[in-house]
Amino acid sequence: MKKEISWLPILIQCRDNVKRRITPLLKTAKKQQQPNLGIGAGGDPIKQIDIEAEKAIVETLVRQGISFTLISEESGIKEYGGKPDENYVTVDPIDGTTNLTRGIPFYATSIAVSTKLELNAVHTALVADLSHGTTYTAKKGGGAYRDGKKMVPSKQTSLEEAVIGIDLNTYKAREIASCLTSLIEKTKHIRHLGANALELCYVADGTTDAFIDIRGKLRTTDTAAAWLIIREAGALITTPNGKPLEAKLDPKERLTFVASANLQIHEKILSLMKEG
Ligand code: IPD
Ligand code: CA
Repeated sequence: MKKEISWLPILIQCRDNVKRRITPLLKTAKKQQQPNLGIGAGGDPIKQIDIEAEKAIVETLVRQGISFTLISEESGIKEYGGKPDENYVTVDPIDGTTNLTRGIPFYATSIAVSTKLELNAVHTALVADLSHGTTYTAKKGGGAYRDGKKMVPSKQTSLEEAVIGIDLNTYKAREIASCLTSLIEKTKHIRHLGANALELCYVADGTTDAFIDIRGKLRTTDTAAAWLIIREAGALITTPNGKPLEAKLDPKERLTFVASANLQIHEKILSLMKEG
């Protein structure tokens, strides 16, 4: 029979171990001193700090005697223990590595646990803001919490007043610009903070009102945990056409999405994007 695992305390231990492992490296984490150590499974250059954070997560799970399949932005897909298909653990060890290496205090670790290699099978999630010490968690059917306090998304419906995150970090900006122009023209406060898992948690807890990434570049490893947190908080996340987000949990799989605090603002955003 499958062993019942109480995942949240274990994910908290993973977070603590990541913090412990990366703290000594933070002093020397400036870009010039941190060479790239090859290309990760997700297609981006790997830094020592990404590797250490991933090791900290794996080490914690192995120490607990858990069998699992790891789906990581750095190492790709790897099996641990005798029954690796019992649990799937999708991680972005450090989301926002560029922020971290440039000293910008906005980066996170992101861990999602699922029963299958599919986004909609994620049942437990943690995103931890490592520089501010804030932790976002969710359990399927159990709500979403920020440092143990239930999260409530914003009720903002005015696009003019809303704070909307848009990731325009792509060489193909021209290709997606037309979909976004009408929306940008109607919104006073556009942001991109550089760690998308955390920016999705900002929508979940009412800090911002929406976050949009239609580049076709973001990996499921960055999104899996925040996907559950957004939904459990009662916010929305769909494709740019308003369809449910479906994806394989694989470092090579890419997603496009619109996440919003409430249905009214979501519909306004989708309709302005359609205009483009
Ligand atoms: C990056 C961040 C960033 C986004 C990039 C991602 P990483 O994650 O989420 O905001 O623009 O596309 O790759 O590489 O630091 O894990
Ligand atoms: Ca990363």
